[in-house]
Amino acid sequence: MRRGLVVGNWKMNGSLDFIDNWVSQYTSFMKTNTETAICPPFVYISFLRNRLLDSALDIHVGAQDCSIHDDGAYTGEVSASMLRDISCSYVIVGHSERREYHSESNKIVALKAQKVIDVGLLPIVCVGETLREREEGRTKEVVLSQLEAVLSVIGAEKLAAGALAYEPVWAIGTGKTATPEEAQEVHKFLRDSVKSRNPKAAGNLRILYGGSVKPSNAEKLFACPDIDGGLIGGASLKAKDFYAIAQAASSVEFID
Ligand code: PGA
Repeated sequence: MRRGLVVGNWKMNGSLDFIDNWVSQYTSFMKTNTETAICPPFVYISFLRNRLLDSALDIHVGAQDCSIHDDGAYTGEVSASMLRDISCSYVIVGHSERREYHSESNKIVALKAQKVIDVGLLPIVCVGETLREREEGRTKEVVLSQLEAVLSVIGAEKLAAGALAYEPVWAIGTGKTATPEEAQEVHKFLRDSVKSRNPKAAGNLRILYGGSVKPSNAEKLFACPDIDGGLIGGASLKAKDFYAIAQAASSVEFID
């Protein structure tokens, strides 16, 4: 049995006023059974966390990235232990925007996941193919190499403590969502790949779908047997939409 997980990735969006409004709006909704987390830009993590605590909202905070280094002369970087200091629960690693704009290789993503685990936080490891890779029929080959790189460093059990996110690059921020069938096929493939190493971990692993998830398509996606929740970009900026997506995940029973 896996509990649904819905994570908001605010990317480089937000402000103090924005967070105030978002939290105020969210407090008017009823509690959901889904586990939820929001990953704002680094500078707002503490402010958001305090606002959530003040409002007695049970939403975790997380970060969108971390450094492969522990400390030292790495201008602009933020280490995993710093994120633990400010009470982050989750850290996203290997988002396609990091892979694309910051040239993060599979190896770097695996090192980041290791750093997150070393300090006791939970990684959300992103994998996903580009449109070109999909058109060339290479989706499974690409996501498998991204997954294997991480598994070979942290192992299946540690990955299962966090989450895996399948985010087809062509679906991120484009309004084009993978169909539930397309997403389920890849999610099942990913779970089977983990299963071949460690069946128990594969059963516990939450695999999130990301890429233009909205209140209108969330329920059908989360109804698929291997889709355990979502990594939500644009729609997480609207408290109402994020809540509706979290609710969609709470109405689904995840059975191994
Ligand atoms: P999107 O982003 O929901 O805006 O497509 C998802 C993500 O990049 O995590």
